[in-house]
Amino acid sequence: MAEQFDFTVIGSGPGGYVAAIRAAQLGMKVAVVEKWATFGGTCLNIGCIPSKALLYATELFEEAGHSFSQLGIDIPAPVLNLPQMMNHKTETVASNVNGVEYLFKKNKITAFRGIGSIAAPGKVLVTPQSGPTQTIETKNIVIATGSVSANLPGIEIDEKQIVTSTGAIALDKVPERMLVIGAGVIGLELGSVWNRLGSKVTVVEFLDRILPGMDSEAARQFQRMLQKQGFEFKLGQKVAGIDKQEDGSLKVRIEPAAGGNAEFLDVDVALVAIGRKPYTEGLGLEIVGVALDERGRVRTDAHYKTSVDGIYAIGDVIAGPMLAHKAEDEGIAVAEIIAGQAGHVNYGAIPSVVYTNPEIATVGKTEDELKAEGIDYKVGKFPFTANGRAKAMLATQGFVKILADVATDRVLGATIVGKNAGEMIHELTVLMEFSGAGEDLARTTHAHPTLSEAIREAALMLGDGAIHI
Ligand code: FAD
Ligand code: NAI
Repeated sequence: MAEQFDFTVIGSGPGGYVAAIRAAQLGMKVAVVEKWATFGGTCLNIGCIPSKALLYATELFEEAGHSFSQLGIDIPAPVLNLPQMMNHKTETVASNVNGVEYLFKKNKITAFRGIGSIAAPGKVLVTPQSGPTQTIETKNIVIATGSVSANLPGIEIDEKQIVTSTGAIALDKVPERMLVIGAGVIGLELGSVWNRLGSKVTVVEFLDRILPGMDSEAARQFQRMLQKQGFEFKLGQKVAGIDKQEDGSLKVRIEPAAGGNAEFLDVDVALVAIGRKPYTEGLGLEIVGVALDERGRVRTDAHYKTSVDGIYAIGDVIAGPMLAHKAEDEGIAVAEIIAGQAGHVNYGAIPSVVYTNPEIATVGKTEDELKAEGIDYKVGKFPFTANGRAKAMLATQGFVKILADVATDRVLGATIVGKNAGEMIHELTVLMEFSGAGEDLARTTHAHPTLSEAIREAALMLGDGAIHI
């Protein structure tokens, strides 16, 4: 007889594993089905965690080579030990994915290894690599199968020379010339990793700007900062083809997005980073009648229920930003909803961070969105050049920008470009979660000297003005 569960999650990424733990905490009997050898999904195995390990290591490598001498630390030029840097990445991943395995055991969650598919509401089949198919009977099913890289038609990925992010975090030598297709988050983060290690990075972007969706003023300034670091941008262009040459290099055909004459670029490695698409292959959704939307995402209602009773979906496979913390929060919410509680995610206050140097962090609305929505807003902006701690840290690039409603002073959104922006954005996230006003922030004492004082000064700029500018 098949084992009986209350709650079965297909996929153990940040959405799935967090949903499983929360459901177990709420007293449910929980199963997780995962087809990979390790838990943690894209984020822990091939996404957030390994990329941040490499971003951290390469940022220090770059600083050791460039800014240490200004601080009075004279050292010989740093020498790259790429295998050890990759070991650091691998060990970081291992420690995180083993952590998830430990948490499953601690919470008495049963893990099934294999490809999960839905035979009917209440019935999940698990097909392991070898051995017989297992059947799970379960009151509720949560689809948390995540996303995969989008392909560029006609360009074949080999993950060695023409790579997605998965190959780009595992190159065994620094490419002399690297092409990045797509000036989004992956392109700029992983482009930064290899640029810092010595690659000549050229980014081809279809649109006439980088980081679509982020504050356009921040994106413009950030583009200049990256150019100073050595990035070359070809905006309003698309890659029309890549040919392998006899000498082992790649010849890339680049065309203006609006049409026109092509140009050619020789590179050693090409990274395709043009977005990710929801992954639902092999789940059997068409058989049970789970509806998808026009972009192939599982359609859900506000309570994460799909078109079929007893089947839910969360994370990258449904609508919304493809972010690990969004998936996690949906995992908590769906477990609470199934347990009869009022699980909820505030989509208006989900921070988003690009982990480059400087970092870019945003929460809430951008200025472009407020303009498009016709909302009467005011801007409070403060540069890190006027912040004492930033000067001491040689980190004066960037600014804090806060947007607030003219009539009520309620904070509607914020963007920070600067060192540690990804940590600092949470002050604004908490403020927005509590529907705070610019004045609430402006009247809050901030420790001196900290980078966070720039946030308070930006809030003061929403009113009578900052002190230090
Ligand atoms: P996933 O993490 O994709 O997990 C899905 C899991 O389901 C996988 O383990 C997969 O093997 C499994 N699965 C799929 N189908 C089946 C099946 N039929 N049966 C069994 N198992 C199945 N986000 C951030 O917030 N911050 C970052 O810094 C960040 N960096 C990133 C860097 C890179 C290079 C990439 C690619 C992504 C990054 N992301 C980041 C995005 C983040 O990884 C995703 O938003 C997040 O992993 C989504 O979680 P998820 O649980 O929905 O799906
Ligand atoms: P993205 O959506 O961030 O950026 C893709 C870029 O490629 C866009 O600028 C788009 O205009 C461009 N593009 C699309 N088609 C193109 C073409 N044919 N030629 C040239 N340019 C083209 O997607 P990306 O960078 O692949 O990342 C996928 C997702 O992963 C992100 O949206 C994000 O949700 C998540 N992620 C998050 C990270 C973080 O939070 N720090 C880090 C990495 C990924």
